Amino acid sequence: MNVAKRIQELKGQRKAVVLAHNYQSPEVQDLADHVGDSLGLAQIAARTDAEVIVFCGVDFMAESAKILSPEKKVILPESEAMCPMSAMCTAMELALFKERHPQAAVVAYVNTSAAVKALADVCCTSANAVKVVGRMPQKHIIFVPDRNLGAYVQRFHPEKEIMLWPGFCQTHQGISVEEVQEVRGRHPEAKLMVHPECLPEVIDLADHVSSTEGMIKYAKASEAREFIVGTEVDMTYRLGKEAPGKRFYPVPSAVCPNMKRTTPASLLRALETLTPEVTLPPDVIKAARRPLELMMEIGRGN
Ligand code: 13P
Ligand code: SF4
Repeated sequence: MNVAKRIQELKGQRKAVVLAHNYQSPEVQDLADHVGDSLGLAQIAARTDAEVIVFCGVDFMAESAKILSPEKKVILPESEAMCPMSAMCTAMELALFKERHPQAAVVAYVNTSAAVKALADVCCTSANAVKVVGRMPQKHIIFVPDRNLGAYVQRFHPEKEIMLWPGFCQTHQGISVEEVQEVRGRHPEAKLMVHPECLPEVIDLADHVSSTEGMIKYAKASEAREFIVGTEVDMTYRLGKEAPGKRFYPVPSAVCPNMKRTTPASLLRALETLTPEVTLPPDVIKAARRPLELMMEIGRGN
């Protein structure tokens, strides 16, 4: 039996839902029940009635699913699929920093460990970071871990003092002005969409800045026919499916190796064995749930 057919069969037997992030390889995206951005997938994980959630993505995404649906079995097919930016802020470091700034609210990007979320006042994704920071009554904000997203949010909230953590995403940080201009030189008519994890000088060049799902909305609504996609390369696959007839050009260096660890074979193995399972201490789940739920109440929008 072929892999796709067997995966389909196992999904039914295990009462499993397969979620895949927009950066997964095309083959994995095609096998998933839902493909989306961090916020959209967290929302699905929170309300699914499946018994098992198989998360084709990276560690923090599967952990968020577990925090929001603790009674469910959550499987991350590749246990080594970790977001290096999330590891740039540890709970110990954040606890010390908080002690020095007791008046500040902690806004944790979802790209953080469950232990870091447990210390936060609220979480955010790239789809709602501007809105979330605006909702905080405190003037001082500790924003972890992405300095580029934090600096982008600061542009919309001059009334806030945002303390930036020195974290960054290697994949987005690597997108240089020169590389973007090189792609633009080949496609002069194309609109440039970029993710807010990009460097400020790259954001300055963009026609549109948003989360991955926001890029789909923009590309569909725009009268333009061509787009340069300033985020992970496989986002172009999802865009091509959602907006057929339009053309999407990747920035070739922007590959997230951790997102590429999951393959159809590892998804099949995960469904067969229901491993590797994501487990978290109950007290961490309880503490991390509050900031994640507050984020979900605030919802999408910048
Ligand atoms: P989105 O929330 O836009 O899907 O981004 C997640 C991510 O990891 C970006 O690098
Ligand atoms: Fe983490 Fe960057 Fe990969 Fe997103 S693209 S999962 S932020 S390393």
